[in-house]
Formats: sequence, structure tokens, C-alpha cells
Amino acid sequence: MPTAIDLTPFNTLALPGQAARYLKISDAGQLTAPALADGRRFILGGGSNLVLTGDFDGLVLHMAIVGKRLLGQDAEAWYVEAGAGENWHDFVQWTLAQGWPGLENLSLIPGTVGAAPIQNIGAYGLEVGERLLSLRAWDFEKKEFFTVDREQCHFAYRDSVFKQQGRHLNGHIAIVSVTFRLPKAWQAHCRYADVADELAARGIAQATPQQIADAVSAVRRRKLPDPAVMPNAGSFFHNPVVDREIADALKAQHPALPCYPQPDGRVKLAAGWLIEQAGWKGKNLGPVGMYEKQALVLVNRGGATGADVRRTMAAVQAAVRENFAVDLNPEPVFL
Ligand code: FAD
Ligand code: EPU
Repeated sequence: MPTAIDLTPFNTLALPGQAARYLKISDAGQLTAPALADGRRFILGGGSNLVLTGDFDGLVLHMAIVGKRLLGQDAEAWYVEAGAGENWHDFVQWTLAQGWPGLENLSLIPGTVGAAPIQNIGAYGLEVGERLLSLRAWDFEKKEFFTVDREQCHFAYRDSVFKQQGRHLNGHIAIVSVTFRLPKAWQAHCRYADVADELAARGIAQATPQQIADAVSAVRRRKLPDPAVMPNAGSFFHNPVVDREIADALKAQHPALPCYPQPDGRVKLAAGWLIEQAGWKGKNLGPVGMYEKQALVLVNRGGATGADVRRTMAAVQAAVRENFAVDLNPEPVFL
């Protein structure tokens, strides 16, 4: 039977909160139990994209389904399946060790395999949607397992059908496994300046997949705080995507503003730059601040609550709005 539990160790921002009921899911079959069908539910992975705002008067299902295997291969690709509870970084390293490259740019992203499709995790020029073939999930309303392919996931920047429908929040579905398609015609993605610079500094001209993974990991260790040392949830805001006219006007006023043109003609702005220029890099409000080496990362300096996070978040949003008339939207999920 589910039991109450302290969720503080299960979120990388180390925010306090109790769940009224908690159950570890290590086998997909557990999800079909009638007792789990009713009431409020939250599906928890590694808690690395989560803001716990207080106690949760519902059921937390902690996804711990493990297992990874080669499903098959053809002339074009390897097809690899992993359980939702597998640690994402360990899974990426395992695929590389097997000689199946393609996920190396996503090395060292915290969290689980099952959460990766939810916000279409991305880093250093790659998004997981580009390597996903399909996923299997349990639908608590229809009481059935279903499989969706990549197209049906409607992946976009830090977005998918699961977020768009807000379904993950009210816990209507639980992803149990994900299948990846890793093309045999491997191509290095190392144009991202930080990674290219790291490879150059290591004297590497033609990088192997493992060398890219190592370079990405080194860059990340340098720029991002380790949640075990300084609790955080990675980037706290999305990089805002604005109309080209707005980006052009801002760029005219602020020539150093980093701008990334998108395929649809709009322009992505660097939220970290906006926050730094608004004076928030390394600044704190109570126990919550913005990280001194990367202004987009909100950090818990010790003893913060969800209310403290909300207060700092609102202050940063107000400062960026006041300076640049740009709205910042939070990336993590609030519970
Ligand atoms: P959780 O935080 O537990 O959950 C996140 C959401 O997914 C919740 O809505 C939850 O209900 C849902 N969910 C989780 N598992 C399942 C499941 N099996 N079925 C259905 N719903 C589920 N993200 C990036 O995209 N790129 C980065 O470079 C990056 N860097 C980061 C660096 C640091 C230091 C940190 C702390 C975070 C970073 N993140 C990054 C954010 C985070 O790692 C990812 O969003 C990750 O996928 C979250 O996984 P999780 O298992 O911790 O999910
Ligand atoms: N910048 C500043 N000041 C800062 C931080 C950044 O001026 O304090 C500038 C940088 O100089 C650079 C630009 O902003 O010109 C972009 O910075 P960076 O390359 O560090 O990447 P980011 O846009 O801040 C995004 C993702 C990260 C991902 C990296 C690498 C979002 C919201 N964040 O960060 O993802 O790892 O690119 O691809 O898209 C996450 O989602 O949790 C996450 C960490």
C-alpha cells in the first residue's frame, strides 16, 4: 500500500514537502492496480525539473522501471529500448560503450529516460526528439497501455504533446519505456561554440562520439552547478522566442544580445544574457539566487522553500520585463 513520504531528497532543488501517498514503480504492471486510478497523482522521475511548492495531498508514483536492450538493427540504424526509470546519463554512456552513438551531445543531463521526452530535453545542438522512435505509456483514464511514435509526440523546443496537454501534471499518463533510433550513418554535432572550443583545447580535430560526450560533460561541469553541492533545476526559464521585429529592435539597442534565428522566422534570445544584464547574475533574494557562473540557473543557497523560489522568480521576471519588455516563462514543472 502507498505510504506518506518526505519529498525533499527527491527534488534537485532540495525544496521541502510531503506527499500524502507514495509508491515506487519498478514494474509497469503495478500501474494497472485499480487503487492507483483515482485521485490526484504526480509522476516523479529524478525530480530535476521540479519546483515543489509545499505538501502534495495526492499520490506520487516514483518511476523506477529499469532495463535496457538492443531491440534490433537494420542497414540504417540501431533500435534501443530503455525503461523509464533508467538514469539518463548512464543510459547515454552505455549506448556509447556498446558502439551505438547518437546521444552523446545529451551527456550529463540529470534525470530519467522516461522524463526525457516530456520536455524534449536538449543541449549542444541536439534534442532527444531527433533520436526517439516511439514510447510506451500507461493511460490511467483509459486503463490501457499505448504506444506513440515520434510524430505523435509533437516535439518542439522544450515541449511535447505531454506538456502541451498538461497531461503529465495531473498524472494522466506514465511513460514506461522509450525506444531510440540511432542512425548508423553517424555525424558529429560539434558546431556549438562551447563544445568546439573544448575539443580544440584538447587538440581534437575529428572527434569520436565518446570524445564529444567527454567535451560536453567538461563544459557542463564548468558552467552548471552540481545539484548535490548547490541545489538547482538547470535552466530556470526558457530562452524566449520573439517576433523578428522585436529581436531587431532589441539588438539595435543592445548589440551584444545573443540572438538565434529559428526556422519559422522568429528569434530565440538568450535568457541568461537578459538576466545578467538586468543585474541578477549572482544576486540573491533571501535563500534563492541566480548562479554566479550562469545567470539562467536558479539556486537554493540553503533552506529555501517553494515560496522563496516563487519570490525570486517573480523578481527576476519583473527585472527582465522592466529592462527589455520581454516575458520569461519558467521551465520546471510546479507541484
Ligand atoms: P522530473 O523532474 O522528475 O519530472 C519532470 C516532469 O516529467 C514532471 O512533469 C513529471 O511528472 C514528468 N515525468 C517524469 N517522468 C515521467 C514518466 N515516466 N512518465 C510521465 N511523466 C513523467 N534539461 C534539458 O533539456 N537540457 C539540459 O541541458 C538540462 N540541464 C540540466 C542541468 C541540471 C544541473 C539540472 C538540475 C537539470 C537540467 N535539465 C536540463 C532539466 C532536467 O534534467 C530534465 O528536464 C530531465 O528530463 C528531468 O528528468 P527527471 O527524471 O528529473 O524528471
Ligand atoms: N549568457 C550570458 N550570461 C549568463 C549566461 C549566459 O551572457 O549568465 C549568454 C552566453 O554567453 C551565451 C548565451 O547566453 O551567449 C547562451 O548561454 P549558454 O550557451 O550557456 O546556454 P543557455 O541558452 O543559457 C541552453 C539550455 C541549456 C543547455 C545549453 C546548452 C535553455 C533554457 N537552456 O542554455 O539547457 O544545456 O543551452 O545547449 O534552453 C536546461 O534546459 O535545464 C538546460 C540547462
